[in-house]
Amino acid sequence: MNWWEETVFYEIYMPSFNDSNQDGIGDFRGITGKIDYLKELGIGGIWLTPYYPSPKVDNGYDISDYFSIDPIYGNWEDFNLFIKKAHDANIRVIVDLVVNHTSDEHTWFIESRSSHNNPKRDWYIWRKQPNNWESFFGGSAWTLDENTKAYYYHSFSEKQVDLNWTHSEVKQAIFEVIDFWIDKGIDGFRLDVINNLSTSCSFKDNPYDEEGKQIHLNDVNQPGILEAIKSIEEHVKKRNSSLFTVGEISSDRLDLIEQYAGPDLLDVTFNFNFGSLEKLDIDEMFLQLKQMKETYQENRYPTLFFGSHDMPRFWNRLASKDLRVYQLLAALLLTSRGVPFIYYGDELGTGDFVPHSLEEIKDIQAINRYHDEKNKNKTDQAALLEANKVNRDRSRASIQWWDKKQDHSWIGFAKKNPDEKQIFQWFKQLLALRKKYYRAIYDYQILNKENDLIYYQLGKVVVLLNFGKKTKLDNKWGNLDMLLSNGKVQVSNEQIIITDKTTWIGKVRV
Ligand code: NOJ
Repeated sequence: MNWWEETVFYEIYMPSFNDSNQDGIGDFRGITGKIDYLKELGIGGIWLTPYYPSPKVDNGYDISDYFSIDPIYGNWEDFNLFIKKAHDANIRVIVDLVVNHTSDEHTWFIESRSSHNNPKRDWYIWRKQPNNWESFFGGSAWTLDENTKAYYYHSFSEKQVDLNWTHSEVKQAIFEVIDFWIDKGIDGFRLDVINNLSTSCSFKDNPYDEEGKQIHLNDVNQPGILEAIKSIEEHVKKRNSSLFTVGEISSDRLDLIEQYAGPDLLDVTFNFNFGSLEKLDIDEMFLQLKQMKETYQENRYPTLFFGSHDMPRFWNRLASKDLRVYQLLAALLLTSRGVPFIYYGDELGTGDFVPHSLEEIKDIQAINRYHDEKNKNKTDQAALLEANKVNRDRSRASIQWWDKKQDHSWIGFAKKNPDEKQIFQWFKQLLALRKKYYRAIYDYQILNKENDLIYYQLGKVVVLLNFGKKTKLDNKWGNLDMLLSNGKVQVSNEQIIITDKTTWIGKVRV
């Protein structure tokens, strides 16, 4: 079995996780200082968001040098020590690989834009005239470069310039990046918006839907994308077949997301079945669970997560600050079939951080939205309200660790949960349980829902998640031993009575 099939990952948002030198920004020494904490929690893998030098227009997803560490996060000694401590604790480390675009301050782009004849000119995508493609951060995806009087393509901000993946030298250059980090001892990669790679340059205009929203038909999932991903995968696995690859696919369509994983392709891809839920809807959640079950069979796995640096905290979004609902969701996340990713602070019930003015907003997506709204003559307050709806800062604030005095953060501090210690214990117990009883290879023997009670069986483990009022269920299992619960549950041979908003996990007695 692959190590990652049995691993619970923990996403660390670099600038916000743990700051060791009181400059308000998280760093490698800070993460190293939390290895024991993560081990105690039961984490088996860390995903680091970008830590490379970057002008930070998109907080590191705009890389200006692939071969260094941004000094605000530490130096090589700090990095090496972190990798060593993580490995000593049996925690693997995967790093974010952003190869769809570079910063406009990357030397490759500085060279590319310098003249029409520069050898790196075609490492990026240049056109005399733009087409109608829109950037995912709003506005046109093309920016005029005055120097050479041509437009360059950027699917995100104008300071994140898309690489031209039809150019063989680009691919070779990225392979060198991959080799460099493998040599540094990392255990895998998280590939940013990997289906966006520009692998064909047909430049046909994109169509619009009925509401006038652009459909990204001709700029993502282009012909040649599977071959490009296969070649990346082949390169990684040739170095070491146990390296893990997880791809971020910018789509909500499960069939499409799934097609990028499998033999010769990525190990897994991020599917947004849980992550995209905007509010708690038990029917919808159950449907998503069923869809995942049907789509991912045998040795194919979905990823499981409720939160990330791109979406609001699920303490607010789904649990509406209800501890028991939060516990149910955590149980679902950590007992269902797939590869779970905990977002830093989830284990403490961390809540959303909400900026109160434009000056406080750090997220480019929210800043752009604010200006769009102002251009529509909205008041500052109304523009702020709209901007905060898409503001990814909400989940990106610094954690105020209980054992540390901190008064400064680059962004602000995340909302502390009064029950954080209890929530931490809950996560810890769930992780221990997953490790002991659960093997990802098990399929659901049962996956069902009655009223607001979702229940399933994986291997010998039976999970009852009652999101609703006190209810009864026929006992289909006979003798059951309780493994973990947070409420009153009566189990008899005929039926199980479970109180409202209660989690109950048991084991079939053999
Ligand atoms: C996806 C990342 O998760 C997001 O944070 C970033 O803004 C875009 N890719 C662009 O790199």
